[in-house]
Amino acid sequence: MQLLIRGGRVVDPAYNIDDTLDVLLDDGKIAQISKHLEADGSKVLDASGLVVAPGLVDMHVHLREPGFEAKETVATGCAAAARGGVTTLVAMPNTRPATDCPEIVTLVREKAISTGVSVLPAGAVTVGQKGQVLTDFAALKAAGVPALTDDGIPIQNLALLRQAMIEAKALGLPLLDHCEDRDMVQNYAVNEGKISQALGLPGRPAVAEELQIMRDVMLAEDTGAHVHICHISTEKGVGIVRQAKANDIHITCETCPQYFTLTEDEVLHRGAMARVNPPLRTQADVEAVRAGIVDGTIDAIVTDHAPHTAEEKSKPLPDAPSGMVGLETSLALALTGLYHSGLLHLSRVLALMSTSPATLLGLNKGTLGVGQDADLVIFDPDQAWTIDKNQFVSKGRNTPFHGRTVRGKVKCTISRGNIIYQEG
Ligand code: DOR
Ligand code: ZN
Repeated sequence: MQLLIRGGRVVDPAYNIDDTLDVLLDDGKIAQISKHLEADGSKVLDASGLVVAPGLVDMHVHLREPGFEAKETVATGCAAAARGGVTTLVAMPNTRPATDCPEIVTLVREKAISTGVSVLPAGAVTVGQKGQVLTDFAALKAAGVPALTDDGIPIQNLALLRQAMIEAKALGLPLLDHCEDRDMVQNYAVNEGKISQALGLPGRPAVAEELQIMRDVMLAEDTGAHVHICHISTEKGVGIVRQAKANDIHITCETCPQYFTLTEDEVLHRGAMARVNPPLRTQADVEAVRAGIVDGTIDAIVTDHAPHTAEEKSKPLPDAPSGMVGLETSLALALTGLYHSGLLHLSRVLALMSTSPATLLGLNKGTLGVGQDADLVIFDPDQAWTIDKNQFVSKGRNTPFHGRTVRGKVKCTISRGNIIYQEG
């Protein structure tokens, strides 16, 4: 089946392409990119006035299945991904049972097939994410995991973490780490600072994140492993990664729209909807995260899409679970916060959301190179719209961005040559 995408502004960060071009898809692959292509008999999609880019690669998504289907399923999470322009995602292993063996990896992958989205389950580092016994990394790799992580329940035992890095390095798998010292953050709801004080609640200190980033940097240097810091949120954390990179240590990191858009003040307006781990921080942290994005310290923008039920999120702040959904808003928030604000060129925003995460995971994704999988997002970069959680196809409605007006709207998402989302 052929599909001709005509007249769009084609942006491919991998090849430095930013030009008005036609793109021909054939048999699920990119067949040709050129000016004024003709293809008799193929379906034509008019992309004039729109941007045509590599499908987004979101390397941090909680799909919740198996075990927490009331929050999200593979099907609903992937529908949300498609609506957000995401064609490849890494699914976090904090499911029930945890994704700690090949059987669960296979189960999640099989459930994803009919969605059209490329779902790569990350393997748990420890059995049951209990932080005690390492999983069989080789078996997980053979089952198709692109990375290992105990996200949500980070490993605290340093001897075990070091051993995990040694084994991950031997297999060429990156280790993705949610950095927060568990004893310091407990189950606290907000950043430690003026908001925790105002609310009379214990807070999660920035240093709890920074200490573990520092620790990971030292262990990455020691073991030579590729360690990827998840959802970085603090000024000093960004500084530690910047320094580690300057020292040629194999560290990469990601952040999320909430960390370059919102501060801890949001908790006063939104309550539990603004509760997330790591927590929303201060204005200085937001600015440092933006600076880290601009200077390349931060390698990827991800969602940390973490759906919870309305019932769970309606609990009082100290009792509600942490997390916010993000798949249906990430491109618009990134365009609004980073591109329309003048911080980044369009191509750079797209690189952070596709080419760069694909590269750091070693995936053949995130580019429109001829012969590659025909994974594309087509969007209006300027269109203003108001985020409405009631329009989400995700089961999760837990967003602090409800009612916010943003710019940039996904019109069509194509995965391996198939249209998996089209507006209207
Ligand atoms: O806010 C969060 N929610 N942070 C995590 O690390 C886990 C996630 C979840 O699973 O809900
Ligand atoms: Zn996390």
